[in-house]
Amino acid sequence: MNNNGLSRRNFLEKTGKAGVAVGLSATILPSVLASNTAKAASINLPPVPYTQQPLPYDFKALEPSIDALTMEIHFTKHAASYTKNLAEATQAEGVDTSKTSLESLLADISKYSPKMRNNAGGHYNHELFWKVMAPKGSQKPATSLANAIQRDFGSFEAFTTQFSDAGKNRFGSGWAWLVLANDKKLKIGSTPNQDNPLMNVSDIKGFPILGLDVWEHAYYLKYQNKRPDYITNWWNVVNWKFVSDRFDTAMK
Ligand SMILES: [Fe+2]
Repeated sequence: MNNNGLSRRNFLEKTGKAGVAVGLSATILPSVLASNTAKAASINLPPVPYTQQPLPYDFKALEPSIDALTMEIHFTKHAASYTKNLAEATQAEGVDTSKTSLESLLADISKYSPKMRNNAGGHYNHELFWKVMAPKGSQKPATSLANAIQRDFGSFEAFTTQFSDAGKNRFGSGWAWLVLANDKKLKIGSTPNQDNPLMNVSDIKGFPILGLDVWEHAYYLKYQNKRPDYITNWWNVVNWKFVSDRFDTAMK
């Protein structure tokens, strides 16, 4: 952890007021309040912007795992809608997005409306989702993440099985997650709808390292009811370089 992270954590522990982080996070660090206690984990990553960022590849780039039409509709309709609705919610509920990071908003999500919860989560989740994928994937996790996976799940195969099962078994719409928990251990879980592990209302809490969208809009055109086949093929386009870098940064 860098000096800013240390001083920030000390500050939070001394004050015991998680809410203090909200006003500071946009200018110092995106403080990720990974539990609904005052304990804070500072992650030295830039906050996710409130605006939709360009897709880092073409709509057809993830074929054959994910078809171009699904990607186009997913990005330009579904994800864009979450971003638009988030802007409406922040304006209606008086959130100054220049001073409150998206991560801090998510950590305090229980204070806001269902519209804010659904769309702040939807926006954040998709901004991450596009980045954890890449046209040809990138083989395997870096050594540091691979070692952590081995330590916490026993083997890479056990990890992918457990993660896939989290996606397959999420009833209805939602997400599967690999998170770095407050104890710096990797954990797998899932959330309903557009909830995510940064939210104080989430059953699984931590910093999201990898997320998988298992809403039908992510796969139905190509896979129809066969969510397990979508998940199997999705592993082929996981951007392990991005995911490993994210893990390494979160561990600092
Ligand atoms: Fe989605």
